[in-house]
Amino acid sequence: MKVLVIGTGAREHAIVRALTLDSSVEAVIAAPGNPGIDAMALCRDLPGGLLDGEGVADLAVELGVGLVIIGPEAPLVAGVADAVRARGVACFGPTAQAARLEGSKAFAKEVMAGADVPTALSHVCTTVEEVASALDVFGAPYVVKDDGLAAGKGVVVTRKRSKALAHAIQCLNKPDGRIVVEEYLDGPEISLFCITDGTTVVPLAPAQDFKRLLDGDEGPNTGGMGAYSPIDWAPASLVQDVVDRVAQPTVDEMRHQGMPFAGVLYVGLALTSRGLRVIEFNARFGDPETQVVLARLASPLGRLLYAAAVGKLDEVPPLRWRPEHAVTVVVASKGYPDSPRTGDVIEGMAEVGDDACVLHAGTAFGKDGAMVSAGGRVLSIVATGADLAEARHRAYQGVDRIRLKGSTHRTDIALAAQRGEIMVPQ
Ligand code: AMP
Ligand code: GLY
Repeated sequence: MKVLVIGTGAREHAIVRALTLDSSVEAVIAAPGNPGIDAMALCRDLPGGLLDGEGVADLAVELGVGLVIIGPEAPLVAGVADAVRARGVACFGPTAQAARLEGSKAFAKEVMAGADVPTALSHVCTTVEEVASALDVFGAPYVVKDDGLAAGKGVVVTRKRSKALAHAIQCLNKPDGRIVVEEYLDGPEISLFCITDGTTVVPLAPAQDFKRLLDGDEGPNTGGMGAYSPIDWAPASLVQDVVDRVAQPTVDEMRHQGMPFAGVLYVGLALTSRGLRVIEFNARFGDPETQVVLARLASPLGRLLYAAAVGKLDEVPPLRWRPEHAVTVVVASKGYPDSPRTGDVIEGMAEVGDDACVLHAGTAFGKDGAMVSAGGRVLSIVATGADLAEARHRAYQGVDRIRLKGSTHRTDIALAAQRGEIMVPQ
């Protein structure tokens, strides 16, 4: 089987890498891909861009692929998976209708309510007056979320009522602006990716992401600055609990409502003093969590995602995992996330060696052929080790080899977990 992967990030690089290790996959093509992917698979342009469903479908047919995997959320919400399937090609990724689980937070809340899934109490608001009264109902810390896709910039969590209100006003000023105000959830966060064909649910291993830019969870929210997996501090029953109480009821509810969700249901949760609560759903793999989850998956990824795409997930044997721990650290460009500077030369990648793997995100070849930064998150350095300490050491050794002017990275990815300092509130 040939597989076409849509996207440009380190998540897609990790997916391509895993596919190249699957003996059932004879060729991997990425579109548009990135220079790192290009070194291990064929990259093709997408002249119409990532949201051009017909363009992606044309390419899939031209290449004769047996499976298309769509990485980012925007093409899913835009219906690219529907366009591919309409041409008779299997596609891993939900329909536009089902991708609203990520595309609209208000819709996700409705589905959760229908499926009795534990989540933060919330109010959907369309006026400033509604927002003001919802903020006062829940009290500080305030949580205000743009209803629609906002590339990681839609959520503000703050103790300052004025800041919460200002963010709400900014979102409401957009056409059809709607926001969700919700109760604050205390407790550590976990991401669990659940592969589904619309009926059967197969969970992957949980990971923890670091959303804030700076050490100690300070600074603005980002797409994610690092991750690790597995999560030794989580209760042993966590994965089964999330499947039983969140993923399976949600997948069943979507099917019963006539919009089956097939693809990956990304469950972002908080482990609070009152039990697990869903923070968000996404309709795709998380970045950078995918980098650590796939580093540990021993089962063939292509076969798993193909089975999900064609409704045969119940035939897949139980997943196998490597016993190692995995850590990834994101190297971001100067100015990320507000105004990332691009065009800086990246050096040192060849010096990283075999202990860590360099996955590309915002990279490009400059005019003179040198590798330069081309986005906010530039590289994901991934390493595995017998324990978290070893995996961290290897990942940070890799990061230290990279030279990129003005770049930033967090120095505390997986540190609290390594020290046994993460507590689930009782
Ligand atoms: P989201 O885009 O919904 O994942 O939100 C981004 C980040 O904001 C999450 O990863 C959390 O760190 C934080 N967040 C979102 N909702 C809440 C909440 N109800 N309580 C506390 N933190 C939250
Ligand atoms: N790492 C968070 C996300 O992919 O949304």
